[in-house]
Amino acid sequence: MGPQLSAAALATLERLARDLAVEAGRLVIERPHGLGVAATKSSETDVVTVMDQRSEQLLRDRLAAERPDDAILGEEGDSVPGTSGITWVLDPIDGTVNYLYDIPQYAVSVAACVGDPTTPGAWETVAGAVYHPSLGELFHAHRGSGAFLRTDSGDVEALSVSGETALGRSLVGTGFGYAADVRRRQGEIVARVLPQVRDIRRAGSAAIDLCWVAAGRLDAYYESGLNPWDLAAGALVLTEAGGALRGPGGEPAQTRLTVAGPQALVDQLAPLVDTP
Ligand code: IPD
Repeated sequence: MGPQLSAAALATLERLARDLAVEAGRLVIERPHGLGVAATKSSETDVVTVMDQRSEQLLRDRLAAERPDDAILGEEGDSVPGTSGITWVLDPIDGTVNYLYDIPQYAVSVAACVGDPTTPGAWETVAGAVYHPSLGELFHAHRGSGAFLRTDSGDVEALSVSGETALGRSLVGTGFGYAADVRRRQGEIVARVLPQVRDIRRAGSAAIDLCWVAAGRLDAYYESGLNPWDLAAGALVLTEAGGALRGPGGEPAQTRLTVAGPQALVDQLAPLVDTP
């Protein structure tokens, strides 16, 4: 799928993803007071903040300068076509509602992908980074590299998913969409999952959830309704940390369903949450 990329080219893409995620993360955490909602999207609770827009603009400007031949798919702006076969998939603030409420669980997600990120199963992330500015934690990987957590103080740790094998002992992350009818269905599914797991966490950023599964801070995660920008970088960090990802009916992870975790837990969780 997509262009042939050497190990050096993958490492270069990852380095840029890391630099961009950190730069944008530092911008959003230092927001001037009084900056709030700029617009609403799919519902009145699906918001875009002024800082989402500023963060995405920074990412787009840097990419236009450094990688003018690459395409861009961002959460908050029009797609930019490219000729290189690489598409940058950007979430300028994942966890926007947390950000709006000053809850520190939000991140900037930057991923370099090959294939068409708008078609399920037709794309793959080859390098990516998720920066959680409140904790100063950068999760990053490129294809075949393993996944790593680098802190602002310079510590680097290789990541691997939890060794848990029983769903009943598992701490499971999930999330909910913005549309009322989607949330009603998600409520029914979570009611089915809750009695069968240790507990549920809804922390509010899918990108961080996926990285936390990669780090073993959550045993597993599932959600329906994710967009490519929510999952592109976190999915690579997760698989490079030894995790498995599954979508509906065993297809690749996609908007309809993403289930993530060690293979044994994905095998147990997927049948519970994979409903038409
Ligand atoms: C949202 C977060 C949330 C998830 C939603 C996403 P946003 O992204 O990742 O955890 O449950 O499905 O839309 O709107 O904060 O970029």
